[in-house]
Amino acid sequence: MNEFEFFTPTNIIFGRGSISRVAVEAKKLGRRGLVVTDSGMLSAGLAKKVTDYLDKKGLTYFTWSDIVPNPRDVDIEKGAAYAVDKRIDYLIAIGGGSVMDTAKAIGAILTNGGKCSDWYEGNLEVPIAPLLCIPTTCGTGSEVTHESIVNNTKTMEKDCIWGAMNSVKTAIIDSQMIDKLPKKILASTGMDALTHAVEAYVCRAANPLTDAIALYAIQMIQKHLVLAVEKHDIESLDAMMAASTMAGMAFGNSDVACVHSISEALGGYYDIPHGVANAMMLAPVSRISVPGAVEKYADVARALGVDGAGLSEEELAYAGVEQMQKLADALEIPHFSELDMVKPQDFPRLAKTAANASETQDNPVIMEEQDFIQLFTELYENGTIEMRGKYE
Ligand SMILES: [Fe+2]
Repeated sequence: MNEFEFFTPTNIIFGRGSISRVAVEAKKLGRRGLVVTDSGMLSAGLAKKVTDYLDKKGLTYFTWSDIVPNPRDVDIEKGAAYAVDKRIDYLIAIGGGSVMDTAKAIGAILTNGGKCSDWYEGNLEVPIAPLLCIPTTCGTGSEVTHESIVNNTKTMEKDCIWGAMNSVKTAIIDSQMIDKLPKKILASTGMDALTHAVEAYVCRAANPLTDAIALYAIQMIQKHLVLAVEKHDIESLDAMMAASTMAGMAFGNSDVACVHSISEALGGYYDIPHGVANAMMLAPVSRISVPGAVEKYADVARALGVDGAGLSEEELAYAGVEQMQKLADALEIPHFSELDMVKPQDFPRLAKTAANASETQDNPVIMEEQDFIQLFTELYENGTIEMRGKYE
């Protein structure tokens, strides 16, 4: 068995209506807060839902909302300068992964100084400023991971500030925050959560603790994602919020793998939303990866509700891959070949970025640059890829 560490320092407060506790929890973290959010949260009234509680208790806070998906280093540094100017000592993030990652990175600069590029190698010197996260999607798990993904505007690639110093103090997880989430975003962020759980489970960095959490998250997502998107019922929304946090906890203590290597490359070059890129690539990359972890993909298939009667473990593993694609199709996730911005001349560049991503080394089957080019080409030309294993 691998040696492993399992580090989950975040206090998780879960439940419908739990945002009413935000002022009490915020008060424990500091005196001058910075609410980090985005314009969508402001216009949807979601940020106000939270700040009303802060106002009622008379807490001092400022707001930074200059954030776009796939956060860029230059924007984070502007936010950090604002935080320094306002003498902020703690942060509240209200939003999805981009907002939470930005808040962590602002918090990193606030206490460590410098700029984003000083802290990409897991070398933060002191903990980031105390951070309370309120996720408003059910996908990233960023409220419990120790990473902030940053778009490097010099290289056009994604870099990462990571490590135990980059942890969130408190997460308030309240499904009221996704009551009005558009179906498309619920679907793609839910598929991001599924990707986290699957990759955490099958990858080379997995351990028994993350396996247990990941597998149960897969079961919950299979049971509730489509219902949450179609019916928006409270039980399914609650389940998706819990599963998303669990999947974050799993991959934060294991790793992700080549689906993420690719989705980060696609996010960096084309600004494709992270969840959409993952959802598009989950089945194709899994199809390539099954030969490296047949038993584990068979477990994933069982967690996805596939009936394994009469199937070998290998057949079951591939049937699980089909189920992943069915789920993506049921949620109307576009196919790679349908995206206008994707151009074959970019494939070598995308492949190089994906091959160099650190998580690529943890994929069950090691993929080289050439394998990524072949994958992109097959998907672009045929809409699907051929089986790589023995089973056809
Ligand atoms: Fe992700």
